[in-house]
Amino acid sequence: MILVTGATGSFGKSAIHHLLSQGVPSAEIAALVRDPQKAEELQALGIELRVGDYLDIDSLDRAFHGVDQLLFVSGSEIETREQQHAKVVQAAVSAGVKHIVYTSFMRKEGPSAIDFLQDTHIKTENRIKESGITYTILQNALYLDLLPMFIGENVADTATIFLPAESGESSSVLRDELAEAAARVLTTEGHENKVYPLVNSESVSYGQIAEKLSDIHEKEIQYHSPSEAVFKEKMQAAGVPDAYIQLISAFSVAQANDELSLKDDTLEKLLGRKPTGLQEFLTSVANCK
Ligand SMILES: NC(=O)c1ccc[n+]([C@@H]2O[C@H](COP(=O)([O-])OP(=O)(O)OC[C@H]3O[C@@H](n4cnc5c(N)ncnc54)[C@H](OP(=O)(O)O)[C@@H]3O)[C@@H](O)[C@H]2O)c1
Repeated sequence: MILVTGATGSFGKSAIHHLLSQGVPSAEIAALVRDPQKAEELQALGIELRVGDYLDIDSLDRAFHGVDQLLFVSGSEIETREQQHAKVVQAAVSAGVKHIVYTSFMRKEGPSAIDFLQDTHIKTENRIKESGITYTILQNALYLDLLPMFIGENVADTATIFLPAESGESSSVLRDELAEAAARVLTTEGHENKVYPLVNSESVSYGQIAEKLSDIHEKEIQYHSPSEAVFKEKMQAAGVPDAYIQLISAFSVAQANDELSLKDDTLEKLLGRKPTGLQEFLTSVANCK
């Protein structure tokens, strides 16, 4: 039995669809959900729903019963995530789970502008390794799907990308392709006790994105990279919520510091093709408008 956590979220749902399309019978897949009403579509596919919360160890002990492989999708509640993840690993040990596949985040050595996110991933990876359970750590790249949030949904109208990312590049990947790779790891051999950076075959800067957008929209779209301080000041003056400013700013600085780009072909090998690139993504977003 494979149990997918975060199954009501985008990644978990997508991973379940890929498991099914890679030939895993629905009777061999279970989904961890907090609210079964959010998972009626999965239930209709024959997926067994198991109710559990990362904060509630008893619920996890019940939910993990009889599970061989656990696709552990990292939680989304930053303040309590470390504590939640510790409980997931503890319950996996108690239940005798044989293989944990964990969705972490890509990183390089040294301090990071996104340490507030990376810390939990590092601690969780260590806990999993120390648990003695066979593991595969997926160090996922930034979701390419988030690009419109960074550059602005209406960038074709504003004609400006304004981010403190300098000429830094990112090897972002579509979330669905990362989920497809996770399913591949669960359905094929040879991934035991491996740490996989999962990044795109290309890395691109916001300058290159502005050029591609200029071609697509047939108008000049410019990229300006202010200092972090000026970026924050302008966003605050525009009434953007603080949490959002902090997040965008931290990822932009991480990109400026070359933390978000990496050369690695593991994802390409798992997918059996090159991941979707920037041109295709931007064209599909533009065509949806
Ligand atoms: N690589 C990247 O660029 C990137 C970007 C954003 C996030 N992430 C990470 O990747 C994860 C998956 O991404 P996503 O897009 O699928 O996120 P998402 O759509 O927000 O899904 C998060 C899932 O986690 C579940 N969850 C949250 N807290 C939980 C708890 N206490 N107990 C049990 N389940 C809980 C949610 O359940 P409910 O439906 O009940 O809320 C949901 O199913 C995120 O949670 C985050 O850790 C990565």
